[in-house]
Amino acid sequence: MAGNAVNHDCERHIGISFTEHVAESQHRLSPAARGELTSLLLHLMMAAKIIARETRKAGLVDILGLTGRTNVQGEKVQKLDDYADDIIIRNLRYTGHLCVMSSEEHEDIITIPERYAIGNYALTFDPLDGSSNIDANVSIGTIFSIQRRVSDGPTGTRQDILQRGKNQVCAGYIIYGSSTIMVYTTGHGVHGFTLDPSVGEFLLSHPDIRIPEQGRIYSVNEGNYYRWDAPARKLVEAFKSEENPRGEPYSSRYIGSLVADFHRNLLYGGIFIYPADAKSPSGKLRLLPEANPLAFVAHNAGGLATTGTQRILDIEPKRLHHRVPLIIGSRKDVEFAESFYSGGTGA
Ligand code: AHG
Ligand code: MN
Ligand code: MN
Repeated sequence: MAGNAVNHDCERHIGISFTEHVAESQHRLSPAARGELTSLLLHLMMAAKIIARETRKAGLVDILGLTGRTNVQGEKVQKLDDYADDIIIRNLRYTGHLCVMSSEEHEDIITIPERYAIGNYALTFDPLDGSSNIDANVSIGTIFSIQRRVSDGPTGTRQDILQRGKNQVCAGYIIYGSSTIMVYTTGHGVHGFTLDPSVGEFLLSHPDIRIPEQGRIYSVNEGNYYRWDAPARKLVEAFKSEENPRGEPYSSRYIGSLVADFHRNLLYGGIFIYPADAKSPSGKLRLLPEANPLAFVAHNAGGLATTGTQRILDIEPKRLHHRVPLIIGSRKDVEFAESFYSGGTGA
């Protein structure tokens, strides 16, 4: 009997494609919606599938031609992050759903060419996060954030991009690892899908992800320890001691791909920290393409994200490449971290 119950439970989500899931949830949330967001996400997933395919070939680059050089056909071989950037722009700009885009790889906003219709959403993305890991075959990913248009001119503007994180209507990421996984939220639960390459579809594999409220992992580039300010040092020392919410030392795990470090902590529980340091006094990570989308996912999975003194989703972006210190993950661990910055526990 128990076996049957488990089987039925699995059957409820096995075989549900991302296409079906996003269309159903959009219809449930706003029956009058015309499916624009659904269509936008499906185009983004198309781009992700192409990037996944190219990422898998990355190890062959030395055979097929070095990036930045010319391949045997006399064509310039693009760096994978430039390639991912191009693929996303080309798959999204003609959809009629976007008014403007912004990428970590571009200084300025990316406008929609005049020949295409202008839509009601703005997209910000990090085409390839953790790209320094590509040659070592370590997981990398694409991070995305979608906001509703706020400008009212003939095209979108910076104002559509420069919105607080709490205004996001959808955010998530795709990880190109041992399998290709995408995680997204529209503010109603966080759901994970795994790409089934045999059918070319993302299938629901992680319904309604909740981050454990307290973890056992801290993730930080500790090589920067002597450049950090006092709260960051004391916080990390606390995670290595018994003076923390768990009462025993946390495990240290750091991949160096934000998206992969975040995803592991989302599933297992834990905290990712990238503090300000003497070299990057505002922090290294970017608010719009990195911190905001992951913060939106974290909050919707029951976790938190802060700079230490301010919640990420409340920050008013000052510029496209605004950087922030980032502390993100399990609720109790992030609250513990905040206490170091508020003059509490260890500040
Ligand atoms: P990107 O590859 O998009 O430039 O991002 C790099 C990031 C991020 O993925 C990671 O968390 C962080 O840089 C690692 O930085 P350190 O090497 O300084 O630890
Ligand atoms: Mn990045
Ligand atoms: Mn990047």
